[in-house]
Amino acid sequence: MLLRELDTGVVGAPMAGGPTTPELVAAVGDAGGFGFLAGGYLTAPGLASAIAEVWDASSRPFGVNLFVPAQANAYAVGPGGLTGDDRAAAVAAYRERLLPDARTVGAEPGQARPGDDDDWERKLDLVVREKVPVVSFTFGLPDAAVLGELRRSGTETVATVTDLDEARAALEAGVDALCLQGHDGGGHRGTLDPVKEPSNLDLVELVVSVRADTDVPIVAAGGVATRERADEVRRAGADAVQVGTALLLTPEAGTGLAYRRALGDAAYSGTAVTRAYSGRWARGLETDFLRRHDGEAPAAYPEVHHLTVPLRRASARAERPDLLALWAGTGWRAARAVPAATVVAQLARR
Ligand SMILES: Cc1cc2nc3c(=O)[nH]c(=O)nc-3n(C[C@H](O)[C@H](O)[C@H](O)COP(=O)(O)O)c2cc1C
Repeated sequence: MLLRELDTGVVGAPMAGGPTTPELVAAVGDAGGFGFLAGGYLTAPGLASAIAEVWDASSRPFGVNLFVPAQANAYAVGPGGLTGDDRAAAVAAYRERLLPDARTVGAEPGQARPGDDDDWERKLDLVVREKVPVVSFTFGLPDAAVLGELRRSGTETVATVTDLDEARAALEAGVDALCLQGHDGGGHRGTLDPVKEPSNLDLVELVVSVRADTDVPIVAAGGVATRERADEVRRAGADAVQVGTALLLTPEAGTGLAYRRALGDAAYSGTAVTRAYSGRWARGLETDFLRRHDGEAPAAYPEVHHLTVPLRRASARAERPDLLALWAGTGWRAARAVPAATVVAQLARR
């Protein structure tokens, strides 16, 4: 169990959309942590080259994180989701609302692409073929056949979950380990059910409740920015903490310039959880865009994601943070522009 054998007790979170680079994964691993490549949004060939780069750069084991598309989610999703024509109409209405913002950066909102499965099958084939040591999943549970195939190729599997019910469902499905994600974390909440409101339970309470239920390795994520907090979470029963925001300013991360500047900008007063950027709950710095659109976006991932991608890209190209999704956990003020190895050392178990 690789995630249980980590002396440091520190995992580098997968951060899709640019921040995670092969260099970052290698640096976290070489420092005694465990790095995850972010497979989300990449094509299978893009992920294949990232995997090759990590194998070349480091002899340490690492993981790959994949988004489970709605079509492959074996979790029993509860009622309340928008479907069919209602869903398409809500997405189209939100697209209209984004037009004025898009024009400020010379862009148009994207097209919805409701059937996008994030190249799921080809990425699964790839991680099996490459015998990636650990594969973690977010946004859903893969079915037993997928988990069985990974097990046969010697891969350990991890499911991202956000409450005790989801943890139990993941264990029943047959995953080897859990990534418990608390409400302070940056980026998307990995709820298995895309519609339900994520739990507000403190990370320590979440770890305690799940640890009482199972002996499998637990990695705990969300708002961990100091050794004191990391120790508290590990003492509660986590084998390791998974940190994302703390790595965003490291030189090895691919975080863009406007995003880096925003993380150090005293004008931002807090973070908030919103569906405004992707249609799924996610935590980021509270921008004016977030405040204006927060209540408007339908629970429609990945359609809303595809609507906002051109706005975010144009904003990044113009080096303006206004329309960027500035994903950040509540501990963002502690993030520093220091090497990833320093972050791992600062959060490591002593
Ligand atoms: C920019 C960013 C991108 C993220 N992308 C992913 C992802 O692709 N897959 C995933 O499982 N988690 C993703 N997360 C969530 C992390 O896995 C982790 O739960 C979170 O970063 C922990 O909270 P922290 O940011 O406060 O450390 C992302 C987080 C951030 C900040």
